[in-house]
Amino acid sequence: MPISKEGTVRLYDAIAPLYSFFRKITHKSDDKIMPFMLNSLDPRNGEVILDAGTGPGIYAIKIAEIARDAQVYGIDLSPNFLKLAERNAMKAGFNHIKFMKGDVEDIPFNDHHFDKIVCAGVLSAIPNPEQAACEFYRVLKMGGRAVIQEPNGGLGARDRYFLLLLYAIGLINPKRRGFSVGDIPQYFFSQRSLRKILEGAGFERVEIAEVGSSICAICSK
Ligand SMILES: C[S@@+](CC[C@H](N)C(=O)[O-])C[C@H]1O[C@@H](n2cnc3c(N)ncnc32)[C@H](O)[C@@H]1O
Repeated sequence: MPISKEGTVRLYDAIAPLYSFFRKITHKSDDKIMPFMLNSLDPRNGEVILDAGTGPGIYAIKIAEIARDAQVYGIDLSPNFLKLAERNAMKAGFNHIKFMKGDVEDIPFNDHHFDKIVCAGVLSAIPNPEQAACEFYRVLKMGGRAVIQEPNGGLGARDRYFLLLLYAIGLINPKRRGFSVGDIPQYFFSQRSLRKILEGAGFERVEIAEVGSSICAICSK
């Protein structure tokens, strides 16, 4: 049975500080995935850009750094992640990034709102990635672009850290926190299954590349 939205919030609220800590280390040592994602996204001044499932806000902050006059939004279901993202953005000197609660399966924006969307490590962790892909398509302007990154078969270093964190938290007190590691939908994508979902959502062109321990999709509307 898929994890409930409340379960997702409890889970991600619980792991937010540890994830954020490890994410800062892994993204700095990762010289392939983030540059590839940002080059593919190519953020520009004046654009409206969404970081969907922003977590600690690492992509939103990088985008704001590259395109200082872009309107950057970060949505996430977890209030604790949003607080961390806000704090990280303030520390980096970007207090104009708008972080807000939002579900990637039901994005709280009108159709054709964004020029670009980045989404890293989220689709494989949600019950209905097809719905999220349709939402990306809906909220993108015509000619817009979504750049999506997912672990490749779940074997990447980042995923091992992530699972380690879950086990660590489970060992502390899984029952009181109201979830178990078994609740996490382990839905890792192959290039083929990711392409199927994105083309199924309506994207006209989907280019997929294997980058380090990830697969990255560049989708044009
Ligand atoms: C593995 S983390 C990735 C965070 C960030 N994108 C990064 O690159 O570090 C997954 C994030 O997705 C968020 N998330 C999970 N389900 C979500 C949903 N349905 N809508 C929005 N965010 C969601 C979690 O709270 C968490 O912050």
